[in-house]
Amino acid sequence: MGKTIVAPSILAADFANLGEAVAQIEASGADWVHLDVMDGQFVPTLTFGFKLVEDLRRRSSAFFDVHLMARSPDSLVAAFAAAGADSITFHLEAAVHSHRLLGDIRGMGKKAGISIVPSTPAAMLSELLPCVDLIQVMTVDPGFSGQEFLPECLEKVHFLAAERQKRGLNFLLSVDGGIRANNAAAAVAAGTDILVTGSAFFNTPDKAAFVQQMRNLS
Ligand code: DX5
Ligand code: ZN
Repeated sequence: MGKTIVAPSILAADFANLGEAVAQIEASGADWVHLDVMDGQFVPTLTFGFKLVEDLRRRSSAFFDVHLMARSPDSLVAAFAAAGADSITFHLEAAVHSHRLLGDIRGMGKKAGISIVPSTPAAMLSELLPCVDLIQVMTVDPGFSGQEFLPECLEKVHFLAAERQKRGLNFLLSVDGGIRANNAAAAVAAGTDILVTGSAFFNTPDKAAFVQQMRNLS
């Protein structure tokens, strides 16, 4: 595996200035921009819709990693694909027909991702592993930035990395929630390829140094 992909989340940025937040992410040398779409139903919070992704897309050529925390992801993926998402990740807990939805996302030319909340066992993904480009293991219950990391979730990353190797698959593994300097190394050691980071990134004055540090943990 190469270096770890660092994906700052604009959820922790100033929402009155999101264009500037993406510019800060790009200037820091981070690899991806993580965009947290919340519908106020699957999670208590409402954030933004495809219009923001479309407008940010015009200002940036960075990889846009869209994380849909929505009760009806099937009704949203086409709009986010058209808006310029590069990957679209939905929650296993919100989808009934996950194979179909993953296939739809791939059919739109995007990386197809699936996410699980801390209470969902990784084994629930078993049948889907050959059909995904990205698996995101939530390390907090989604809904807010700045929550406390749940270390027990890393066992799922370890399990999924082992399954990937055993079955000769090549999806990417991502962790999201409460990732900061003091737990990122453990996440990388467990097998993650991607570190999503919201509050830790935006609270760090020297963002370029922070990204370098996170990227070089592998
Ligand atoms: C949580 C979101 C995360 C969050 C990460 O609901 O999906 O992407 O913004 O922020 P931190 O790193 O502050 O937990
Ligand atoms: Zn997220």
